Amino acid sequence: MLSESRDKREIERRRTFAIISHPDAGKTTLTEKLLLFGGAIQLAGTVKARKSARYAASDWMVMEKERGISVTTSVMSFSYGGFEINLLDTPGHQDFSEDTYRVLTAVDSALLVIDAAKGVESRTQKLMDVCRMRGTPVITFINKLDREGLPPLELTSDIENRLGMECVPLTWPVGMGSTFKGAYDIRKGELRFFSPTHGGKIREPQVLISGLDDEKLDSLLGNQAEDLRADMELLREAGTPFSRERYLAGELTPVFFGSAVNNFGVRELLDSFILLAPAPLPRPALTESGELRMVSPEEEEFSGVVFKIQANMDKAHRDRMAFMRVCSGRFTRGMRIRHLRTGRAGAVSNAVLFMARERAGVENAYPGDIIGMAGHGAIKIGDTFTEKSYLKYTGIPNFAPEHFRRVRLRNPLKTKQLQKGLEQLAEEGAVQLFRPLANNDYILGAVGVLQFEVIISRLAEEYAVDAAYEETGIETARWVVSEDKGVFEEFKSRYRQDLAVDAEGALAYLVPGLWKLEAAEERYPSVEFRVTREIG
Ligand code: G4P
Repeated sequence: MLSESRDKREIERRRTFAIISHPDAGKTTLTEKLLLFGGAIQLAGTVKARKSARYAASDWMVMEKERGISVTTSVMSFSYGGFEINLLDTPGHQDFSEDTYRVLTAVDSALLVIDAAKGVESRTQKLMDVCRMRGTPVITFINKLDREGLPPLELTSDIENRLGMECVPLTWPVGMGSTFKGAYDIRKGELRFFSPTHGGKIREPQVLISGLDDEKLDSLLGNQAEDLRADMELLREAGTPFSRERYLAGELTPVFFGSAVNNFGVRELLDSFILLAPAPLPRPALTESGELRMVSPEEEEFSGVVFKIQANMDKAHRDRMAFMRVCSGRFTRGMRIRHLRTGRAGAVSNAVLFMARERAGVENAYPGDIIGMAGHGAIKIGDTFTEKSYLKYTGIPNFAPEHFRRVRLRNPLKTKQLQKGLEQLAEEGAVQLFRPLANNDYILGAVGVLQFEVIISRLAEEYAVDAAYEETGIETARWVVSEDKGVFEEFKSRYRQDLAVDAEGALAYLVPGLWKLEAAEERYPSVEFRVTREIG
């Protein structure tokens, strides 16, 4: 265990979380306001500008822009109230990919942003599936209360029914849209009045009452005072009481109401977030003997796991940035660390931390921190680094793709280059490569379709391969395993036409229609059809 209490304190004051939403719910706006309240940026508009204009602060971002994908740094660190916060963005719009899912494997909690007019939307549901799978604690921010939206109770029951978490509002809106008056802080019994404030100025809202019995409530709110009292009565009687344990178990979500663009409700959200959200949690890893053990962040030896690779940040050097979450111990500049998969050890002196406005060289990094290491290709997603021990972190999976393309080579003489290009690009993790058992096709699978365009242009640019796509008729994929050898052999021969191996040699069923999957599951109950596969 870390002996120095200073290091322990550093761990306890770290919060590493992902911000998730359906596009347009206000994720970028809220991110920006969190940075603003954290003092990491002075002006609203910074993050927004980067999003809309794909404005690039450094060369590699320009290249991303040229290639038409929006990979701004997806990690932003800032301080607030004595805590060090690492915010991980989940790329949302067209660039939705497996990376988006994988970011959720690197965090200890999530912040869900919901548009009050829309409620739970499809993308939110998908991302929340991953949170549920991992038991990730989630705080919910219902945004855009300055506009007409759904009634608050409808929003919370929508979340409960569709995302499978009980809602415990910690603030409650008074009115909405043109009648929006503010938010009532249920635990403190305070009402914060809303006043529109576009831009970067933080004006702390006035606290005008102390408790629901305060007579000022009626003169300030008129009829809405009674509505608020009735809502609170209802929540008291029928609502779920807040329990931090149940929040940490992912069973319930504290809910905040506000308007990000107006800086309203952001302070309350942040203040509760730092107190409620978990500090870096232990993570499961395999030891040399193949046993699974939980590695505590307080263990003395440094260890970390790579959850994302961003390629060709500097095209001239074909370099790649590996994003590593520090899981235990302390990382210091120049430290010698060992790359478990290759067995190679080396000093890392060029690691960077991603501050809100810039990248900074790492002097010290603690569990929960995300550091970037530039490399030339040896590092893969899911790789573990330690000082010396054998340790292999688990829980960074591949996710079943939802879109598929068959790759057709326009120049048949380039088969070798095609294979090499596809293998290398698949290693970065945004697409998966499948080779059918029944033929020599190359099938690409991805979670978001934009990845396909990126691959074709990179094949041309980086490997001089002219390729195109054909449709496949595949709807989804499942990794198949079974302990029952006899049955598995029978399954394999019956489904041979639809089976393929992925880049790691794992067997997958490329499902030509969801009803076929159901039929196969019914026919072969001893075969597991998995939606995810552990990497490595
Ligand atoms: P995203 O990252 O989740 O995709 O959403 P983003 O923050 O870009 O917000 C989407 C739109 O919603 C933006 O408007 C933004 O200004 C608006 N928005 C965010 N928070 C609030 C809020 O509290 N109230 C209201 N009324 N709107 C909000 P836009 O028209 O797309 O862009 P822009 O005109 O702001 O540039």
